Amino acid sequence: MGLLEDKARARLFYRYLSRVYDTINPFIWNESMRDEALSWIDLEAGDRVLDVGCGTGFATEGLLANTDDVWALDQSIHQLERAIRKFGVHGEVRFHLGDAERLPFADDSFDAYWSSGSIEYWPNPVAALEEARRVTKPGGPVLVVGPDYPNSTVFQKLADAIMLFYDEDEADRMFAEAGFDRFEHHIQQRAPGTPRAITTVAYVPNPGDHDDDRVDDREAQDDVEADPAG
Ligand SMILES: C[S@@+](CC[C@H](N)C(=O)[O-])C[C@H]1O[C@@H](n2cnc3c(N)ncnc32)[C@H](O)[C@@H]1O
Repeated sequence: MGLLEDKARARLFYRYLSRVYDTINPFIWNESMRDEALSWIDLEAGDRVLDVGCGTGFATEGLLANTDDVWALDQSIHQLERAIRKFGVHGEVRFHLGDAERLPFADDSFDAYWSSGSIEYWPNPVAALEEARRVTKPGGPVLVVGPDYPNSTVFQKLADAIMLFYDEDEADRMFAEAGFDRFEHHIQQRAPGTPRAITTVAYVPNPGDHDDDRVDDREAQDDVEADPAG
């Protein structure tokens, strides 16, 4: 397990990194990557979405461009303070100090779940993915962005020593173990030679009907609207 896959150490790390986070972040995870990922979950205005590991609010801002019902959670008070400064205490976003592995929300609270750049710090990613599944309504999307596993053995050793980097096989294992049976992975990269992200879009299983997911629901709805008689 990497050095930063420890909640207290990750909090300490972000106590200092938060000061420069917004300056460094765009070199690894930028607006076009975020917006591409947003396009994969088909948010609709009014959808209630949870942003886990929201940090200083970079992805939160993208989510807000799609829906005005955004909830955001982070375990670092230093990161949260910066996000709250951007959006305001009583602004559009409902901020919570909390842990991805023990979300303070009831079952089926959200239409969609988003987490970008946080899974690599979670000591028990499967537990956090189970929480994502629990708080998201059946059929709703769960999108998770993490660091893709490097190709070179030298970088693999370095990566493993720091935090969780994972490939598609490992992502398959984690999502399946957390109870998802439908998901796809996308590799994202700002420019050749820069770190790659692995972005997974999973759908919360619908009890009793595996084919009845949000995408199919919406397509069916579109068909009805296009052909009211049929
Ligand atoms: C790289 S930042 C990502 C910020 C933002 N999501 C973005 O897209 O730019 C990772 C964030 O995950 C948070 N984090 C790490 N472990 C966490 C946990 N167990 N629960 C909640 N947040 C966590 C950190 O405090 C940090 O703010």
